[in-house]
Amino acid sequence: MQIQANQVAVVTGGGSGIGRALALQLSAAGVHVALCDVSEETMAQTRELCLAQAPAGTRVSVCRADVSQESEVLAFRDSVRRDHRCEHIDLLFNNAGIGGGGSFVSGDRAEWERTFGVCWQGVYLMTRAFLPMLIASQQAYLVNVSSVNGFWASLGPGVSHSAYSAAKFAVKGFTEALITDLHLNAPHVKCAVVMPGHIGTSIALNTGKVLGSGGALEMSAERVAEVRDRMLKAGAPVATLPDAAIRQMLHQRALDFRDKAPTSADEAAGIILAGVRADRWRILVGEDAQRLDRMVREDPEAAYEADFAERWQSAAITPRAAG
Ligand SMILES: NC(=O)c1ccc[n+]([C@@H]2O[C@H](COP(=O)([O-])OP(=O)(O)OC[C@H]3O[C@@H](n4cnc5c(N)ncnc54)[C@H](O)[C@@H]3O)[C@@H](O)[C@H]2O)c1
Repeated sequence: MQIQANQVAVVTGGGSGIGRALALQLSAAGVHVALCDVSEETMAQTRELCLAQAPAGTRVSVCRADVSQESEVLAFRDSVRRDHRCEHIDLLFNNAGIGGGGSFVSGDRAEWERTFGVCWQGVYLMTRAFLPMLIASQQAYLVNVSSVNGFWASLGPGVSHSAYSAAKFAVKGFTEALITDLHLNAPHVKCAVVMPGHIGTSIALNTGKVLGSGGALEMSAERVAEVRDRMLKAGAPVATLPDAAIRQMLHQRALDFRDKAPTSADEAAGIILAGVRADRWRILVGEDAQRLDRMVREDPEAAYEADFAERWQSAAITPRAAG
């Protein structure tokens, strides 16, 4: 589908990372953008950045909305109608997401359900709310951001990753099922599932804020004990490390996740929009995602064995920060 000036695009999680980069690239092309996020402050910054470089007359609206709460999603939809004076939208990017909810077996149930709720229920509720506006367009695209964890439910052998993976598999399955459903019932609306590998964003820093647990540096002593236990099980020599050192180590990991990724948020947004322009339904983002997709297909039975993640990670992908 062509992406062009005066279309209307809705982007969830527009305050940071891939969502912000999508908003910047869309508005630079003269597309009117409607953003939602739970962070008013970062969303307002995205709006300023967009308006500073978008062609005159391009609208960028913002609305504080939690995508996992139906009343807030419906209020967001009503604000889009009002702010853009339209009954249709051309593009919907269901992008908002958080990590967390690692262990189903031993983790906190409320956190598990919050992560699953944002990553799956958010996509579901947003699609329910905005589908009539997509259908009201002459041509439209629904873009759901899943992850490589939508086809590989792991971060490697030492870490549980259940809520996020379950939600991302759901997003992928839902989107794939919609291909036929839309083809039968609304053939002018297309959809795509996006599966990024490691993208340099602040997701690891933002997750604690959305879960209400704060960043790694504010982590409770109880939580540090859980993390220490997990690290010990994975063979890390952290038995006598002070709590403060564990907090610092986790904080540094979150910074490294942002700063040492093989693909930037800007590159990711470019790949996603190129996929939409090329009418793709399946958009892998990053060489690491492409390689993992091949590895899982070649040998699915080995996907959760200890050396699988090692083989994937030892692939020659040069981190941006080092390269
Ligand atoms: N960064 C990666 O390596 C990576 C890899 C695969 C998939 N993804 C997916 O990409 C998407 C974007 O992530 P990102 O890396 O840009 O993260 P990010 O933290 O930089 O941006 C996500 C934004 O979503 C917002 N958000 C969180 N919960 C929300 C909610 N309930 N309602 C509304 N907004 C909410 C956050 O405040 C933040 O502004 C997510 O769905 C994520 O799962 C990211």
